[in-house]
Amino acid sequence: MALTQSGSTRDHWSSRSAFILAAIGSAVGLGNLWRFPAEAGANGGGAFVLFYIGCVILIGLPVLLSETLIGRHGQASAPESVRRVASASRASSHWDILASVGVLSAFLILSFYCVVGGWVLYYVGVFFADIFQSGLSGGAFAGQSAEHIEGLFPEMIGSAAWTVGLDALFLGITLFFVARGVSGGIEIVAKWLMPAFFILLVAITIYGMFGGAFTQTMSYLFTFEPEKLTGEVMLAAVGQAFFSLSLGVAGMVTYGSYVGRNVNLASTSAIIASADTAVALLAGLCIFPIVFSAGLAAGAGPGLLFESLPHAFQEMPGGALIGLAFFIMVGFAALTSSVALLEVPTAWVIDRFRIVRPLSAILVASGAMVLGALAAMSTNTLADWHPLNFIPIFEGQGFFDVLDGLTAKFFMPIGAILTAIFVGWVADRKLIDMENGIGGLLHLTWLFLVRFLCPVALLAIMVVGIFPDLLA
Ligand code: PHE
Repeated sequence: MALTQSGSTRDHWSSRSAFILAAIGSAVGLGNLWRFPAEAGANGGGAFVLFYIGCVILIGLPVLLSETLIGRHGQASAPESVRRVASASRASSHWDILASVGVLSAFLILSFYCVVGGWVLYYVGVFFADIFQSGLSGGAFAGQSAEHIEGLFPEMIGSAAWTVGLDALFLGITLFFVARGVSGGIEIVAKWLMPAFFILLVAITIYGMFGGAFTQTMSYLFTFEPEKLTGEVMLAAVGQAFFSLSLGVAGMVTYGSYVGRNVNLASTSAIIASADTAVALLAGLCIFPIVFSAGLAAGAGPGLLFESLPHAFQEMPGGALIGLAFFIMVGFAALTSSVALLEVPTAWVIDRFRIVRPLSAILVASGAMVLGALAAMSTNTLADWHPLNFIPIFEGQGFFDVLDGLTAKFFMPIGAILTAIFVGWVADRKLIDMENGIGGLLHLTWLFLVRFLCPVALLAIMVVGIFPDLLA
């Protein structure tokens, strides 16, 4: 506990490594495990990977440092932290809009993220049950047809009882930890689950290499095909880098606000970004060998994780057990991210309405449950409900996709653009110099990127998101 500027006691990370693990936990999530590998493979292999790494270093990392810097200086919920930096810089307190947009996005993302978290829980259950039938050393789903295994997913998402129930369960687990606080809850999840996640990921990757499809994976993921790197793909890569690093939703502002003065934010941000990117790459090396050695196609979207993989585990020796371990690992990654997503609005409610943490967390989670239930039902009961049908880019989309699109195309880029402009142009230079932990040429480079490259790249994502025909 430490005293804040307002004089109240405020929970802090117990150490620098606790912050690093929690921030990596927030960053490493479903985005790394299912979206990155599929996008890289389909969109230019090595060329995509290189471009993505460039985005992380040149656009993601500068914004990551900007966000943590605001939070660490402000030592309060995201909007209040921005106001404190603004007031120390004699700028308008209305800049807090950047964080308010972030709080809103975090809340919206939380609503549909937990639906997917629920799908992951379903497969943990399925593989757990299967071990009793298939045994520890056998492949999963002994004696069952491919249609049956791949049909499990559509059957589950076709049922409102399953999707809403599992969403509630996943959100409930998330709530349990957030309600317990920063050092007593969020940090505990990160400290236990992140190391476990890494061990599982590395172990499954190594095991999968023996399946005989490693070369095929390497060529799928890394063959250099620059011609596939179209404008659209490049923007998707910037967007993916942002989502993967948890930027633009005030999440890193919030986590940064629990960091002590003695932590160097620049090197810490670099560690977080490197770990997140390494996991994205490893995820590809983990997933594709399993899929390819079963003779299946790469696939994309939810089908890769929830249809092809379960099927592939049938072919793998020990697949029942490895499948269980795999989905537990995915669950860990998703949970440390959903915890961050719930923490952002919860910290805001605590600050804004002076309500105690457990109650604040319950209020936010209840709201996310209502939206989440609607999202969970967009694959079943509400499949024909297209809430924003009158807007061309949302035409024909269900509530789940609308939430995803609104946040990825509008709120996250707006939040991140405003953050970059605020830190690059508005905030007091001395304050920035003092907080960011870098000097000399590196500092100037960072400032240049925050001022120019980041806003322009993010604006491009937004404009093309709104007018997709521009690149057609
Ligand atoms: N970065 C997480 C992922 O890759 C998602 C996330 C976004 C988490 C924003 C927190 C905040 O899945």
